[in-house]
Amino acid sequence: MPTLAIIGAQWGDEGKGKITDYLAEGADMVVRYQGGANAGHTIKIGEEVFALHLLPSGILRKDVMAVIGNGMVLDLDRLEEELEALKEKGISGENLKISDRVNIVLPYHRTLDGAQERSRGAKVVGTTGRGIGPCYADKISREGIRMGDLLDEELLRSRLDLVLPIKERFAASLGENLDIHREKLIAKLLEYGKKYEACVCDTSVLINDAIKAGKNVMFEGAQGTMLDIDYGTYPYVTSSNCTSAGICTGAGVPPSAVQEVVGIVKAYTTRVGAGPFVTELHDDIGETLLKNGGEFGTTTGRARRCGWLDLVVVRHAVRLNGLTSIALTKLDVLNGLSELKVCTAYEIDGEIVRNFPGNYRQLEKAVPVYETLAGWDNWTEKTSKLCAGGFEALPTKMKEYVAYIEKDIGVPVGIISVGKGRNETIDRRQNKW
Ligand code: GDP
Ligand code: IMO
Ligand code: MG
Repeated sequence: MPTLAIIGAQWGDEGKGKITDYLAEGADMVVRYQGGANAGHTIKIGEEVFALHLLPSGILRKDVMAVIGNGMVLDLDRLEEELEALKEKGISGENLKISDRVNIVLPYHRTLDGAQERSRGAKVVGTTGRGIGPCYADKISREGIRMGDLLDEELLRSRLDLVLPIKERFAASLGENLDIHREKLIAKLLEYGKKYEACVCDTSVLINDAIKAGKNVMFEGAQGTMLDIDYGTYPYVTSSNCTSAGICTGAGVPPSAVQEVVGIVKAYTTRVGAGPFVTELHDDIGETLLKNGGEFGTTTGRARRCGWLDLVVVRHAVRLNGLTSIALTKLDVLNGLSELKVCTAYEIDGEIVRNFPGNYRQLEKAVPVYETLAGWDNWTEKTSKLCAGGFEALPTKMKEYVAYIEKDIGVPVGIISVGKGRNETIDRRQNKW
């Protein structure tokens, strides 16, 4: 099983960072292939907590190559900050490679992100403000600046000559003055080009060579299936393909390159930003999940909306991503709840719907159909000690919750996570590297 993908199966923040870091033991390469600094992947190693936004989680292990693939959008100011923060914690970041084709997030993308949000009035998406949408829009409309352009002054200048007036006109239509200091911007970009030149390459060649050589390669998804530009809750989504399909275009590998696809599922559901959320709770239980789960955004600090586990969403993720197993995270957050609800279908205008609808007005009318399962008590033992006993040592009702999910979605739960740490994990997978 040399290649493996980690995919968020809900609205992001499922614990992809923790599971990527856990599985990166034994990996040779970890590749990010979509999204940008909108992501926030938290990893706890011992007492140290790392929050990664752009860097692949493999960066924390020095013998793992960390790759920023072409399908990401790269904010070099943020990259600097992130690498600096890691250096302060003794992590060199020398194992980083950057695609020559990755699109660069420029200061005007961040400004436009804010201006577009303001122009939406009550219909805001609730973006992270990191310039993600405007940068991807430029990529698609062929007005982007790519990493390789920063290594070629003539090319960079001619690209900016074309692009900047277009951006300025667009900003003016939103009542915004971009106030771009052209020469300052060029100087900064060329400086970044020089600084990172040694890391920049055709990462598709690097990744495919590694796969051919039988190396263990991981693809680390950001965001989640329900934020996918095509199959998420459009228009309340991010601007990339967060599903496994995004790996091919975002890393430059063929579909046959991905053997295992691990879906990360939080034992309940959360969402940051606006948009439909059928199982959202506005009561004490929602508050308990928020508090016990520490559900505050890693990137923006916003409180996450919380609700029961939605299996309509998870089945959607199983199908779209071809999930071969699930890592079920944050089960410990449900400790002490007397009963647990699990949504198995929606009722919309009197009809039972089992597949996730594409129309968000329909979703707003959807009423969750719940199955109620028994909860389990709080643990008195340390979770790491409990994990040492393996799956069998878990509370019976927790095992029943896991079995219920497996049966409904038709995919095994290979990993169970009951805490932030590496040792608060139970691994039942058959195939491991
Ligand atoms: P990501 O974006 O999918 O990587 O997830 P985030 O890092 O944004 O949010 C997940 C949060 O839950 C982080 O603070 C993790 O440290 C934490 N976490 C991950 N797994 C578990 C778990 O099993 N139990 C608990 N209590 N926290 C967890
Ligand atoms: P990770 O990788 C949760 C959400 C934003 C907003 C929408 C669009 O940590 O799971 P954007 O800035 O991408 O244009 O915002 O997507 N969003 C996330 N929500 N986790 C994330 O990443 C997210 N990245 C973007 O809140 O609703
Ligand atoms: Mg996150």
